[in-house]
Amino acid sequence: MIIKQSKRLNEVQEYYFSQKLQQIRQMETEGVKIINLGIGSPDMVPSENTISELITAAQHPKSHGYQSYRGIPELRKAIAHFYKETYNTHLDPETEILPLLGSKEGITHISLAFLNTGDKVLVPDPGYPTYSSVSKMCETNILHYNLKEENGWMPDFNELEKMNLRKVKLMWLNYPNMPTGAEAIGECFEKLIAFAKKHKILLCHDNPYSMVLNNKKPKSILHYKGGKDVAIELNSLSKSFNMAGWRVGWIAGKKEYIDTILKVKTNIDSGMFLPVQKAAAAAMNNPPSWHVKRNEEYKRRREKVWELLEVLGCDYDIHQAGMFVWAKIKKGKISSEDFVENILQKANVFITPGSIFGKNGEGYVRVSLCSEVTTIEESIKRIKQTTVIARSGVTKQSNKEIASLCSQ
Ligand SMILES: Cc1ncc(COP(=O)(O)O)c(C=O)c1O
Repeated sequence: MIIKQSKRLNEVQEYYFSQKLQQIRQMETEGVKIINLGIGSPDMVPSENTISELITAAQHPKSHGYQSYRGIPELRKAIAHFYKETYNTHLDPETEILPLLGSKEGITHISLAFLNTGDKVLVPDPGYPTYSSVSKMCETNILHYNLKEENGWMPDFNELEKMNLRKVKLMWLNYPNMPTGAEAIGECFEKLIAFAKKHKILLCHDNPYSMVLNNKKPKSILHYKGGKDVAIELNSLSKSFNMAGWRVGWIAGKKEYIDTILKVKTNIDSGMFLPVQKAAAAAMNNPPSWHVKRNEEYKRRREKVWELLEVLGCDYDIHQAGMFVWAKIKKGKISSEDFVENILQKANVFITPGSIFGKNGEGYVRVSLCSEVTTIEESIKRIKQTTVIARSGVTKQSNKEIASLCSQ
């Protein structure tokens, strides 16, 4: 390079999965077939209506130009309808919804819209790594707040109140939570709204998993009293509608917040392909039975993943929401990255180390439900076989022994 990278990148690493997939591709070019149970990219298809709407719209000669920066009214109305039906929350489709190219980009738009250099941001630990990396790129200071298993992975408000909250402008939160699968319990949202109001902090609730294996009724923070004054919400078709590659998400919230974010977004992209928007609107009208069927398949897969975790000697909670299982490594001495690397090298199965989600994720792993039952069965077989081969002569091993071999 003839010049140096910007200072804002000094503390930012390439996204973990971007690096890891490179390693997996390299292993595959060397002839190793890897089973990837790491990434949450749904392998099931969107509804038939969604696909047929995409095809019909793409065939129209007027579909191929630039589109409105605010998304087409049909999509915004479909999102407003979805919010009413799903979360019993009213949104004005004209002013309170901004379609995005996936919800991930919204994290950057929101941060650029509201943060100045040196501001502070509350980021959950464990949490989606992008909250931290974008906060770093915006040259802000990150204040991690703990989510702990003993608190049901909910924020600890006593601890939050004791933190130095001066200069905190923004707080990221995400329920159903990724990676832990926890759903918001008790009066979590009410308390968060009161906390935000007291300290003048904008809450950014990231809500892409509310329809996937949820045990409770899907929730939006915008539904709660005072929510719209202090919170905005990201949402997405990626997980709940099997449309991760389509890149459709949105920000919902009060007009003033949306208008501020628009100042950033309109200078970054030039709208979303019209057929994708029309198909997304069709998807949002999928009947509840479509979601039930998808969740039934995830339930079948989850039972197999539980079996895999038993083999690995991990503990897990059976009531998690979302499309992953979060599990605790019982053997305390090994780091989650080493545990995962051993499974990758020995059984050629990839799962995600909890440590990439923060220090409180250390000691845990995350297994994706985005592979068919037969693939998960093959992973179980490989893990059992590899460890048996590793100890030639031993043909029958307890789960504990297998787990300890994977940990070496
Ligand atoms: C918590 C969380 N938020 C946001 C995203 C980004 O989703 P999208 O595909 O809508 O950009 C993900 C994706 O894995 C996620 O886990």
